[in-house]
Amino acid sequence: MKLWQGRFTKTGDASVDAFNASIFFDKRLYRHDIRGSLAHSKMLSKQGIITEKEGADLEAGLRDVLADLDAGKIAFGADMEDIHMCVERALTERIGETGKKLHTARSRNDQIALDLRLYLKEETADIRAMLKALIETLTETVEAHRETVMPGYTHLQRAQPVTLAFHLLAYCQMFLRDADRLGDCLRRMDELPLGAGALAGVTYDTDREFLRRELGFARVCENAMDAVSDRDFALEFLADASVVMMHASRLCEELILWSSAEFGFVEPDDAFSTGSSIMPQKKNPDIAELIRGKTGRVYGDLLALLTLMKALPLAYNKDMQEDKPPVFDTVDTLKAVLPILAAMLKTLTVKPARMEEAARGGFMNATDAADYLVRKGVPFRDCHAIIGRIVLYCIGENKAIENLRIEELRQFSAHFEADIYAHIDLRACIGAKRSEGSASFASVEKQIASVRARLAAL
Ligand code: ARG
Repeated sequence: MKLWQGRFTKTGDASVDAFNASIFFDKRLYRHDIRGSLAHSKMLSKQGIITEKEGADLEAGLRDVLADLDAGKIAFGADMEDIHMCVERALTERIGETGKKLHTARSRNDQIALDLRLYLKEETADIRAMLKALIETLTETVEAHRETVMPGYTHLQRAQPVTLAFHLLAYCQMFLRDADRLGDCLRRMDELPLGAGALAGVTYDTDREFLRRELGFARVCENAMDAVSDRDFALEFLADASVVMMHASRLCEELILWSSAEFGFVEPDDAFSTGSSIMPQKKNPDIAELIRGKTGRVYGDLLALLTLMKALPLAYNKDMQEDKPPVFDTVDTLKAVLPILAAMLKTLTVKPARMEEAARGGFMNATDAADYLVRKGVPFRDCHAIIGRIVLYCIGENKAIENLRIEELRQFSAHFEADIYAHIDLRACIGAKRSEGSASFASVEKQIASVRARLAAL
């Protein structure tokens, strides 16, 4: 018998029940659901809406149900419809008539809005902590590779020399912003919907401020209809999660490229690679690839919820029951991805010699050679042209700029003197960067200190 059976003359078909049910996925909210019910029943008895004895019975019963759910002693079936019905039914089975009073001054609409917020507040905080751990690992790698010179790329073409520390610090910044974004998301989500009733509030003398304190929210939702209608907090979470995954995917893409024989910059640990069923020599960076791949499903989750919410009239619509699978999927994905990415980075073998060798090719000191001439008073555009011609010459001679003799250089500009070689040395090129936030060794030190400070405050 359904808890809402009263106005119906028929009971539903089993296939309709199964289609309508959310219990198979929203069962994961049982702790949050019971937490909400405990606060609600406490409030009802404090306000004299139910008696103290009834309040105490509800509390004991709910704790009992919680223990049984924790112990896996309650079986979930489609006839239970959703987690709210399941808990209420289990409660009434245990404590009898009083169980039926629990739902006074409440609707499943404000209940599910509460459960999802409680759940996401917890998960968002967990995910932020995992993000923090990832940034810590990245920072350790940064600190170990202050001197590891590598090519910096644009268009995936060698551009200017940098250090691995500098390159990875870029990711620290991205992930720090992600953690910030999730923090903002948490702050906005921190509003209590419980007490909104179905959509328009309730006729009882409830105390939402008490509920707010009991359930640890920063504010009470100001408008009951908004409280039960919107899922922007979940959308914001999914959007922030999508950006996290986009960053993780870019990092993984680089690790995949870098572990190819063509780059040979890094080698993932055996534990984070897999072999081929046919090619005995293969060692594939599957974990990095999977992280890149899972980015797609998180984007999909965001798009699913955006599409779900689009054009829904206020207030609650059953469509919204479909909000949970994408949210759960993204939470699971992030909680799987972030620790494994950190672990993979921790065990990654970096090959500094290979990186530096790559940095020696590709005329990456060309900009610095041009800057050298600028210091001699030549306008930058002319310097650019001169060095361009030198590069062309070098390509013909199969030489790097620094391998040209001074006489050869002087054929292109009389301003070249013996000190040019010191200027276009790879490390000198990096060290010469002076602007704030640059790749210079000094700037990298500053950046490390700043990242460390922001991490400590996270
Ligand atoms: N299982 C529902 C959901 O997940 C709970 C809210 C149901 N509300 C209703 N009026 N049918 O959205």
